[in-house]
Amino acid sequence: MKIVRIFYCGAVLCMAGMPVATKSVQSVAIIGTGYVGLVSAAGLAEFGNTVIAADIDASKISILNAGGIPIYEPGLASIVQDNVARGVLTFTTDMAAAIKSCDVIMIAVGTPMGEDGSADMSYVASVVNTIAQTIDSFKYICVKSTVPVGTGAWIRGLLEEQGVPSDLFSMVSNPEFLREGTAVTDFLYPDRVVVGTESSEAADVMRDMYAPLVRAGIPLITTSVVSSETIKYASNAFLAVKVSFINEIANLCDATGADVKDVAYAMGSDRRISPHFLRPGPGFGGSCFPKDSSALLYIAHKYGVNLQVVEGSLEANEAQKEIPVKKLMHLMHNDVQGKTIAIWGLAFKANTDDVRYSPAIVVMNELIDAGATIQAFDPAGSDNMKKLIPSATYCKDMYEAIQGADALVVMTEWGMFGTADLSRVAQAMNDRVVVDARGVLDIEQLRALGFTFDLIGRSCVANAG
Ligand code: UGA
Repeated sequence: MKIVRIFYCGAVLCMAGMPVATKSVQSVAIIGTGYVGLVSAAGLAEFGNTVIAADIDASKISILNAGGIPIYEPGLASIVQDNVARGVLTFTTDMAAAIKSCDVIMIAVGTPMGEDGSADMSYVASVVNTIAQTIDSFKYICVKSTVPVGTGAWIRGLLEEQGVPSDLFSMVSNPEFLREGTAVTDFLYPDRVVVGTESSEAADVMRDMYAPLVRAGIPLITTSVVSSETIKYASNAFLAVKVSFINEIANLCDATGADVKDVAYAMGSDRRISPHFLRPGPGFGGSCFPKDSSALLYIAHKYGVNLQVVEGSLEANEAQKEIPVKKLMHLMHNDVQGKTIAIWGLAFKANTDDVRYSPAIVVMNELIDAGATIQAFDPAGSDNMKKLIPSATYCKDMYEAIQGADALVVMTEWGMFGTADLSRVAQAMNDRVVVDARGVLDIEQLRALGFTFDLIGRSCVANAG
């Protein structure tokens, strides 16, 4: 994937005659080279900062130093390699040296979901300990990881407990709004940048760090640290609510004979609603919506506040993951015992290899429990799914997966499924039964080829003709 970068690197900025900020170059140490850390490191280098990305995982750093990328993210390799070549992005395992040599320390380590829905803060705590042991000059400590509301104050407390003077650092919250699969574009062309800080100097430093965006007129919204932390969770929880809402409306459409495509289009044409995140499907997955909605609920319970809408969206999502199997069971007269079911798409959405909380996990496990054999294909997610569900057969392409299958379930909206040769699919399958949980297949062709099929929220269309 080629990302078009029009005006971000310093040289092009000058050529365009745009004003150069007073101190546009910040030295930034990014701690953690996972998905968020690596994209942020490359993006901030692209914006003209000098970035050192540090990780305790020596294998990741050696891949990066050898010119490789340890994760799957379209467009990331080229922006990393370009900035390494310009000498403004380097990688190290020496956390202390990175912290000492930079003014801004950006924490971008993982905060996985703990057993009780709370965020596991052990990686963040470990970075804070390293900062406490290393800090010898003033630092802006900027939290990029998605963290519980109150983390800025918690970090400040940890540092002060370890004897770090309060005037030796300033806390900043700078949440990310990157979607997997489009993270590089999301970083370079965001809708807004959110900066939480109680210090006007820190706000200025962050404006410098994001100078090309500020100059391009992208809003850099400054708030308190605690508001910024809340904005991140509230944004993800709201989007999750939106997806669960349209999924429930889709189920209602299936019961009433309405077409969710028309309903979503007309709803989304109201600017107050917007057309985004109104695509029905088999339920949301990934590491963010489930994790952040649960973390928000955990915090709300801690403060004795009810978030019934957020709670409802998670419950609706669990129910939604059952819909593809329910539809398939209906089409196959409740009998999948001994049948071969093809699954197209394992990742929680297209353009990622991430299968965490993917609805495909639920569908595959339920079908296996019911006695079916699974032939699965995903362009990127097969290796990850194999670790979770080893008993399925993982195929090298989509046509191998449907060979001799009694039914096909489409779980992820990869572009290649929408352009599949359906005549070839029809020839290769044992029986022509399809549940298209993402609505990507050509309905007219399915009908012409004699498929029995169903769609989420569009049963009226599937049953017509
Ligand atoms: C999400 C947010 O969109 C990002 O802004 C945020 O930074 C990120 O979480 C994070 O916290 O790190 P991501 O999880 O990569 O990004 O994926 P999304 O594109 O938001 O999709 C989430 C889920 O909702 C997917 O399972 C997707 O299939 C589903 N979805 C999305 C729908 O079913 N319908 C829609 O219309 C949109």
